[in-house]
Amino acid sequence: MKAFVMRSYGTDQLSLTDMDNPVPAADEVLVRVRATSVNPYDWHFILGEPYIARLMASGMGLLRPKLGVPGCDLAGTVAAAGANVTEFRPGDDVYALVSDGGFAEYACVRADLLAHKPANLSHEQAAAVPMAAVTALVALRDSGRLEPGQAVLVNGASGGVGTFAVQIARALGATVTGVCSARNADLVRSLGADSVVDYTSEDFTRKGRRYDVIIDNAGGHSAWACRRALTPKGTLVIVGGPPGRWVQPAGHAFGTFAQGAFISQRVTMAMAVSAEKKRLLETLTGLIEAGKVTPVIDRSYPFDDIRAAVEYQQQGHVPGKVVVTIG
Ligand SMILES: NC(=O)c1ccc[n+]([C@@H]2O[C@H](COP(=O)([O-])OP(=O)(O)OC[C@H]3O[C@@H](n4cnc5c(N)ncnc54)[C@H](OP(=O)(O)O)[C@@H]3O)[C@@H](O)[C@H]2O)c1
Repeated sequence: MKAFVMRSYGTDQLSLTDMDNPVPAADEVLVRVRATSVNPYDWHFILGEPYIARLMASGMGLLRPKLGVPGCDLAGTVAAAGANVTEFRPGDDVYALVSDGGFAEYACVRADLLAHKPANLSHEQAAAVPMAAVTALVALRDSGRLEPGQAVLVNGASGGVGTFAVQIARALGATVTGVCSARNADLVRSLGADSVVDYTSEDFTRKGRRYDVIIDNAGGHSAWACRRALTPKGTLVIVGGPPGRWVQPAGHAFGTFAQGAFISQRVTMAMAVSAEKKRLLETLTGLIEAGKVTPVIDRSYPFDDIRAAVEYQQQGHVPGKVVVTIG
């Protein structure tokens, strides 16, 4: 098979390599990957940034990457199933959120991470879902404990996580305000936002409106500032923050979380990596097949051009998702 392998840090170090096909263990499924997508998670690993993450048990190595093949989202077809796998058979269409291995023609995935692909999505559309939509669902429902009728603000509403968060919040019965730049306002409204704040000309923490839940994908505001826009029992959910080479977005996330001790409202984080991914994907499949959630795809790249896809996503202003078709 062909796979993009990382031998040193840097997008230009991603090289298309011929490798043996992986062999599934008893509890694994071999997936013929048809499409993947690019997330900030992927380019953080590809660049080895923030540098502070190289000192943690995060999967990054200090000088060289520990990961061989990056790529956390995949959609494809089951090619073979391990001896203990009963739920999936060759030919089944599946999708998954994995820690690595998506930038390849084949990947072995533990059956307990895999879900059946939503029937109404192509592989390309399905590959846009796992990391971004799982994060949005965890942030709103589990970390934010969002209830029907509540008001939620999504900061960074036009990106990968944000475009899913706006739709899922609506599906959960909330009133939604999206924060994005003016050029993406129509997109965010079309996804179900009741109102939009343009962060380039307005500060949502100073508009006098209060929310039960704030989902913060973008950073840029302290917990002190966000408390002005939260109801007395409101919750700030930290998802992401501004990128940086040394400590960001982790510095923003942990700093804001620490400030939570000094404000009366609840401050919490959403973590996709530690979530129960299969169960969450099955919930998302239900929302997608019911027509309540649809992935927004900005651009699609061929497999050979994956470096360009990573570089484009890294600019931080993609409306929706960047996907890569593998074949
Ligand atoms: N905690 C987790 O498990 C988890 C999982 C996935 C992602 N994340 C993190 O969550 C963040 C978002 O991920 P993503 O996949 O949605 O990234 P993305 O697709 O690159 O989206 C970033 C969005 O942020 C918006 N933005 C940039 N600066 C902003 C500002 N000052 N105020 C408001 N919006 C701003 C951009 O909108 P405009 O184009 O309109 O400027 C863009 O739509 C990243 O930091 C990522 O690392 C965390």
